Amino acid sequence: MGNVNIINHPLVKHKITLMRDEKTGTREFRILVEEVAMLMGYEAMRDLPTEDVEVKTPITTRKLPMLCGKKLAIVPILRAGLGMVSGLLALVPSAKVGHIGLYRDEVTHEPHEYYCKLPDRINERLVIVCDPMLATGGSAIQAVDFLKDKGCKNIKFMCIIAAPEGLDALRTAHPDIDIYVGNLDEKLNEDAYIVPGLGDAGDRIFGTK
Ligand code: URA
Repeated sequence: MGNVNIINHPLVKHKITLMRDEKTGTREFRILVEEVAMLMGYEAMRDLPTEDVEVKTPITTRKLPMLCGKKLAIVPILRAGLGMVSGLLALVPSAKVGHIGLYRDEVTHEPHEYYCKLPDRINERLVIVCDPMLATGGSAIQAVDFLKDKGCKNIKFMCIIAAPEGLDALRTAHPDIDIYVGNLDEKLNEDAYIVPGLGDAGDRIFGTK
């Protein structure tokens, strides 16, 4: 059974509040997405396995812990998830990056896949799927469905803001995955935007309208 981890940290709260402010411009917003992703990634990677390897320091030799085990893949859901990648790569520069492209039909709000490119042996990796906004949950569910079809067994999902509706839907569809949430907001509005939310994360990261 997976866990839902709502990150409870003053730095994450502060940065998410700055992100929500409509006066926050593209450059600052992009930096905040990276920073929050990195802070959340620290939590999401807390259970990465380590093994002791021998290291010669300038003083002596010791067996000391280093990351080991399954290799990591970061998989942003295009396009807003791209904004989180650099923050996560700052923590694990050797991680591979896959991409899943889903767009949301503006009328039905249903996700449709238009692109997918994943690292080799994706089924053997710990996969961290990221998307800043978990709204209806449709895209996240479809991305995880897709990865499971490829044989992935070790999947985590990270979002900066979740709506209760999306979180419930993702948990119901994929109870086995760990979910990391920067803030659980109030609700979705009639246009499937998160309230209070921060607007369209992709537009705010890329400066589009
Ligand atoms: N996607 C966004 O970027 N913002 C929302 O509020 C909902 C989905």
